[in-house]
Amino acid sequence: MIQADLVVHGIGQLVTCEAAQGEGPLGLLEQAAVAARNGQIVWVGPTGRWSRRVRLSEGGLLVDAGGRCVVPGFVDSHVHLLWAGSRADEAAARIRGQAFPDGGILRTVRETRAAGEDALVEIGRGRLRSFLKHGVTTLEAKSGYGLSVESEEALLRAAARLAEEGPQAVVSTFLGAHVVPDERVAAEYLDEVCEVMLPRFRGLATFCDAWSDPGAFDSDQCRRVLSRAAELGYLLKLHAAQLAPGDGVRLAVELGATSVDHIHYLREGDARLLALSQIVCVLCPGTAVNLRMAAEGSARTLAGAGARLAVASDFNPGTSASENMCLSIGLACLELGLTPEEALAGATIGGARALRLQRRCGSVRLGKRCDLALLEADSYLEIPYRLGVNLVSATICNGQLAYSA
Ligand code: NIG
Ligand code: FE
Repeated sequence: MIQADLVVHGIGQLVTCEAAQGEGPLGLLEQAAVAARNGQIVWVGPTGRWSRRVRLSEGGLLVDAGGRCVVPGFVDSHVHLLWAGSRADEAAARIRGQAFPDGGILRTVRETRAAGEDALVEIGRGRLRSFLKHGVTTLEAKSGYGLSVESEEALLRAAARLAEEGPQAVVSTFLGAHVVPDERVAAEYLDEVCEVMLPRFRGLATFCDAWSDPGAFDSDQCRRVLSRAAELGYLLKLHAAQLAPGDGVRLAVELGATSVDHIHYLREGDARLLALSQIVCVLCPGTAVNLRMAAEGSARTLAGAGARLAVASDFNPGTSASENMCLSIGLACLELGLTPEEALAGATIGGARALRLQRRCGSVRLGKRCDLALLEADSYLEIPYRLGVNLVSATICNGQLAYSA
């Protein structure tokens, strides 16, 4: 008998996101059960058989999924988790087609700097709770709204404190090269990023990210930051071609980045280049919608070329203030033209790849962390169909029932 401290049984449709484990590209199992011990999946099989194979320890938890659909906990691989203030007024102005003076990233930078580390932890804690309600069990936390040594450090420390608290796994990314802060000249600011911040934050962030686009940094500036980061042992990400066509994709491939994110615009040959590489293309449909970008062409081209895809919220104060991953999946289908299977895989195993965590999470498989989202639906096809509805009724994170409606 296999010992377990958690059993989820009565699962009508289990989406494993491991094609070899079941039907179709998502590896579907009908009438299934999952057992875990110490946060790890130890058994997956037919629900009628679990009690003959698994011994649930005294005090262990038995969850009845009631015939509903269960998916791997969502892995949100592009998240600007920590910032202060709100830009709802600016978003409303954009909707109305009106100008909004003195808005943008630098407005959030001012408010974030003023908030300080403890307040950011408090804000982040509330956001993590909401992500959990939306089934997100692993997520990224980018810095990038401090843009000074002191404030970027406060953001990274806040993220580290939140990662320590759990229950979700939080992966930290240093985004010092988000934009040039108000008071600085680009070249000098980047000197500081490369010579002071990157060495100093080495133990605080897994990834280094930069933004290559007009109004942010050009590809030579991004190359400088990311090459230095790679020397120091960071893994790399790049925001690229979000606002205009550019050579960010080539740069990300050249530097062996883990992911290249947004890519609303592709240049000739980019899709092939990406498909031949190991890079994950992180698509952020909420942002495409907010910016009213027709990004369907590039997303379909990438999918058609066979590039690795992830679907993420891009949770941030300016262009996508939603942590609802069911919405992101729905928009990935309806705005970017992904199939429901591509979109759901992108929000789970694809996201895990974009964070280099594919061995630990993102699918239902023996030995992986037991992260599950129980849906108020009998099929994953309801996610894009019931657009915008958070179908998550319970979230299991690291083998514990972390949220239940
Ligand atoms: O992902 N691309 C970079 N940054 C954000 C925008 C951030 C903001 O407006 O605050 C994005 O869209
Ligand atoms: Fe972003």
